[in-house]
Order: sequence, then C-alpha cells, then structure tokens
Amino acid sequence: MRTGDKYLPESDAHPPKVLPAVAAHAIAAYTESGDLVVDPMAGIGTTLVEAMRLDRMAIGVEYEPRWAALAMQNVEHAVNRGAPGFATVVNGDAREIEALVGRDVRRRASLVLASLPWNLGDSCCDSSAFVQVLSSCRTLLKPDGFLVIVANAGRGLGQAGDVAAVAVDAVLDAGFALHERCHLLLAPPDDEPMGCAADTPLVVARAGGPDDHSMENTGCGCGPDLRYNASSRRSA
Ligand SMILES: C[S@@+](CC[C@H](N)C(=O)[O-])C[C@H]1O[C@@H](n2cnc3c(N)ncnc32)[C@H](O)[C@@H]1O
Repeated sequence: MRTGDKYLPESDAHPPKVLPAVAAHAIAAYTESGDLVVDPMAGIGTTLVEAMRLDRMAIGVEYEPRWAALAMQNVEHAVNRGAPGFATVVNGDAREIEALVGRDVRRRASLVLASLPWNLGDSCCDSSAFVQVLSSCRTLLKPDGFLVIVANAGRGLGQAGDVAAVAVDAVLDAGFALHERCHLLLAPPDDEPMGCAADTPLVVARAGGPDDHSMENTGCGCGPDLRYNASSRRSA
C-alpha cells in the first residue's frame, strides 16, 4: 500500500495514516483534474501526494511541526518523481484554517478530505476539536464541494461501524449536510492472510445545511446507493 518509493521511509513513524489507495479513490471520485483539495490534518501528507499524482492542487495543514516538515518532504519527493499537480503544507492549528491558508482560498476547494483521529470515539477523548476543524473548513469549500471523512482508523473488517457513526456525528455537529456513505473493502495482497482485509467507511457531506438537496444526484456512484435520508439525520 505504501510500498515502493512514493513516500519517504520516515513516514512509517506516523501511526494513524490513511491508505494511499483510499485517499486516491476519494480524490478521483469527488474532484476533477486541476481542482483544489484540502486536508486540514495532513499528517505525513498522504492526501497531498495522492492529489498531486492525480493532477490536483492541494493544501495541507498539520499541527505537529515534525509531521508538517515530513509532509512537505513527501510533497517534494512526489514532485521529483514527476507528479503533475502541486501542493503546499502549512504548520498550524486547523481550527483557524482560513487565517492559516489565506482568504484567497475561501470557496475554492472542491474537496476537504480528513481522517477521523484514531482515538476520537474513545471515552477519554473529546471530539469538539475535530468538530471545530471541520467547521472551520466550511468557508473553504465551493458551494458544490464535498467533505469526505475517512473513518476506518486502522480497524479491521466488521469493526468499523462505530467509527463511522462518530464521523457522522462530527460532520453534522460541524454544520454539514450528509450526502452519502461508501465502504471501501480492501483486499489483502495475495501473500497476506484474509485477516488483513479492512473495511474503510467514507462519510461524505456537503457544505449546505441539512435541508440543502441541490446536489442529491451527484456522488461517486461507485457502489450501491447508500445516500442518507436527510430527514432522518443519523439513520443510515
Ligand atoms: C489521523 S492523522 C492524519 C493522517 C493523514 N491523513 C495521513 O494519512 O498522513 C491526524 C493528524 O492530525 C493532526 N492534528 C491534530 N489536531 C490538529 C489540528 N487542530 N490542526 C491541524 N492538525 C491537527 C495530528 O498531528 C495528526 O498528524
């Protein structure tokens, strides 16, 4: 998944990463060539690298200086390997994302792609910071843009239901309207046992409020129609 030399080896030190194939799927499904993708919690820059490889522009914000620096190195590595897009990384707190990236980015992003922090659903952790990050990203999205939350947190097949519900709650609390939910079923490599298979839920939302049905017929269309009924907020 992260083998080969797409990413610098130091990237392995960051534990809760998104699989590159998952980020690439979300970017390909919800944006087009040349579009802007934002990852407000960029980690080692998986979203940014995959966006560049698909000829998108990308901005990442990362709170930890060491991960922000590594994300920038992964971006430079992607440039050196011929990725057609480009990306930048800002070190800071994404709860103030507009102040960090500049007002020029307001309503320019086609996709905000974020992953659920691995421990958000645990009783010891308060989700309010994550909700604030998502909420602050609303002004960056185009009116027809998407917010996609990767909710697997590295859990195995059949263990992902709870984290998807946590992601749904965070998205709604941040003022987004649910759009659809996809499950990516990742097969293990041939030489790995089936226990390595993973269910990766993607929770997809729009910037409009709960009554905004203007784009109901869009989406990745890559599987059965699991779109939310907006009148029953958390039913799906
Ligand atoms: C689950 S990891 C993201 C991994 C990333 N998607 C990847 O695949 O490389 C979450 C990241 O969010 C960062 N983070 C947490 N709170 C943040 C905040 N308020 N602003 C920006 N980054 C934050 C953490 O330092 C961590 O690197």
